[in-house]
Amino acid sequence: MARVDGKVAIVTGGASGMGAADAEVLSREGASVVVADLNEADGRAVAERVGGNAVFMKLDVTDEANWQQVIARTVEKFGRLDILVNNAGVLAVGTVVDTTLESWRMINAVNSEGVFLGCKHAIPAMVESGGGSIINMSSVAAIHGQSFVAAYTASKGAVRALTKNVAMYCKEQKNGVRCNSIHPDGVATPMIVKVATGKDTASEEDIEKLRHVENICEPVDIANLVLYLASDESRYVTGAEMLVDNGSTITPPVGV
Ligand SMILES: NC(=O)c1ccc[n+]([C@@H]2O[C@H](COP(=O)([O-])OP(=O)(O)OC[C@H]3O[C@@H](n4cnc5c(N)ncnc54)[C@H](O)[C@@H]3O)[C@@H](O)[C@H]2O)c1
Repeated sequence: MARVDGKVAIVTGGASGMGAADAEVLSREGASVVVADLNEADGRAVAERVGGNAVFMKLDVTDEANWQQVIARTVEKFGRLDILVNNAGVLAVGTVVDTTLESWRMINAVNSEGVFLGCKHAIPAMVESGGGSIINMSSVAAIHGQSFVAAYTASKGAVRALTKNVAMYCKEQKNGVRCNSIHPDGVATPMIVKVATGKDTASEEDIEKLRHVENICEPVDIANLVLYLASDESRYVTGAEMLVDNGSTITPPVGV
């Protein structure tokens, strides 16, 4: 039997990078996947490539009514909701002094409020399905201060803390819903190209150039952990923060 056979998953930010890899791995292992993203063209292409029961649904994670629609449509189409991967995210470079309030609000609206809305509206649908697994994409930025991305760091810190709050709430409710966060360092996706090069778009060639950097892994390295957390193999894992960072957070500072 496949590892998430018969389960139904929503993957936000599924049109690109890690979300596309999550959709692919979850579908390969038997889940029906909703690829949810703002980017319609790429999202539809991912759903088509993933195959199986995968479908695209347009979702802006900052829009509460849109979340309610997508969850209702998912349950209508597939009969249940078992897995939510809160993966959609945005990043802008800026120190605490450089960052504008507008940029701070935009980043926190997507990365932090978007995850809150996903948890809020997915939990009741998962309870109806007998339980579920929420996987929130945070970052090593939530663990060590990254001075060049102030708003992003704060938003990922919020995701780290909210994950524990949701896990505790669900444990108290005994509702069968688990919630964990993943903290990657660098992953070879368009997002990291934008950080490394300052470009607005990322070609496959740009991504290839970053592949030799020590702590940069592939989207599938994250998707394999998503699969574990989504499956019943992790039934005793909740409230955990899981690093995929090649030891970057335990590496002592050089030259101190
Ligand atoms: N790439 C890395 O090095 C890295 C490291 C740590 C954490 N992360 C986190 O992993 C997640 C995925 O990142 P990625 O590298 O695959 O990025 P990516 O830029 O390749 O993909 C992000 C996706 O999110 C979608 N998105 C953005 N705003 C949205 C919104 N309002 N509603 C719905 N979808 C929206 C985009 O359209 C895009 O498809 C993000 O949360 C990111 O912060 C990435």
